[in-house]
Amino acid sequence: MARRRNNNNQSSSSNNNESFSHPQVTKLSIDDEEEEEEFVEEMTTESSNLDHSMCEADETLIGSDKTSADYYFDSYSHFGIHEEMLKDAVRTKTYQNVIYKNTFLFKDKIVLDVGAGTGILSLFCAKAGAKHVYAVECSQMADMAKEIVETNGFSNVITVLKGKVEEIVLPVPKVDIIISEWMGYFLLFENMLDTVLYARNKWLINDGIVLPDKASLYLTAIEDAEYKEDKIEFWNNVYGFDMKCIKKQSMMEPLVDTVDQNQIVTNCQLLKTMDISKMSSGDVSFTAPFKLVAERSDYIHALVAYFDVSFTKCHKLMGFSTGPRSRATHWKQTVLYLEDVLTICEGEAVVGSMTVAPNKKNPRDVDIMLKYELNGQHSQIKRTQHYKMR
Ligand SMILES: C[S@@+](CC[C@H](N)C(=O)[O-])C[C@H]1O[C@@H](n2cnc3c(N)ncnc32)[C@H](O)[C@@H]1O
Repeated sequence: MARRRNNNNQSSSSNNNESFSHPQVTKLSIDDEEEEEEFVEEMTTESSNLDHSMCEADETLIGSDKTSADYYFDSYSHFGIHEEMLKDAVRTKTYQNVIYKNTFLFKDKIVLDVGAGTGILSLFCAKAGAKHVYAVECSQMADMAKEIVETNGFSNVITVLKGKVEEIVLPVPKVDIIISEWMGYFLLFENMLDTVLYARNKWLINDGIVLPDKASLYLTAIEDAEYKEDKIEFWNNVYGFDMKCIKKQSMMEPLVDTVDQNQIVTNCQLLKTMDISKMSSGDVSFTAPFKLVAERSDYIHALVAYFDVSFTKCHKLMGFSTGPRSRATHWKQTVLYLEDVLTICEGEAVVGSMTVAPNKKNPRDVDIMLKYELNGQHSQIKRTQHYKMR
């Protein structure tokens, strides 16, 4: 599941990336059989035409067993993914407000934009009075960013560098500010944070600023009978056949989707806060305990993770949340279905821990281990479940 890739599990608000992310999952009716052959061929050709050379993925492609890393850089070359990000007003407006309302941070400063995409953050910084902005982008979108910078008359302030942050030669030894929008689904999916930390360690001056500088991951529990039935239990009986082997896989893949706040059954628990200006790359692997206390008597079908980011160096603390009680963003929330349906009474608690780590083979994927326990009036359950974001 490349970050802005359309997860085929997603139920709502399908976006315009579907066509290039998962062409092969388009449904066909039986009447379409003839067209199906043509369609499959067309799609195969399309997939094989994907340009993997634009910013080489680290992992080797093994047959059709593509990983997120393989899709990752390809997807950022298409304008659709940038359109989705730019139209996420919570995201883009927050960065714009942070920059325009805190011009004192940028005035005459050298800025490095890590993963510049269309160059939008660099343009904001240039407008806010930055002395020079280095916009590094490894996908083909770098060519567009160059053109956009020129068209808007910022060529003297913004230099677009096409290449991987880890490989480019920056024309200056140090920068005053690093700005980046690196957050993935479940905060850590895609592992772009590692690139930001690499840039920080290499180029940021001692008292330099990283924007944003704080990110926090939260957990809560939801009632989700209808959707769990549709996505997970569906495999029990498919036109009379037992397909439970797929059910096991679908349980293991967290679902990126929007959760209605009325589904929330417990408190929301802070799992982990990361200080981007100080942390090391190893800190993205952690185990955090949680205690989710029921605020009403209900069933629990899933735990839900979401994140906040903040910019603490502003005049006033600024940031945004991707939680179910906040305005929706393209990150939605991440739903982890539980094997059992928990029956919980108000005041009872699900206690446990969540262990998060980049996958060893494909570090852009995230492995999650959930240990949880409920000793309630109606449910006594103790279980460990493993998930993989891919
Ligand atoms: C989430 S997008 C943000 C784009 C833009 N900053 C914005 O806010 O709209 C992240 C961008 O970083 C780029 N990127 C990811 N890893 C990179 C790396 N190691 N070096 C250079 N660019 C990278 C991707 O190609 C993508 O365009």
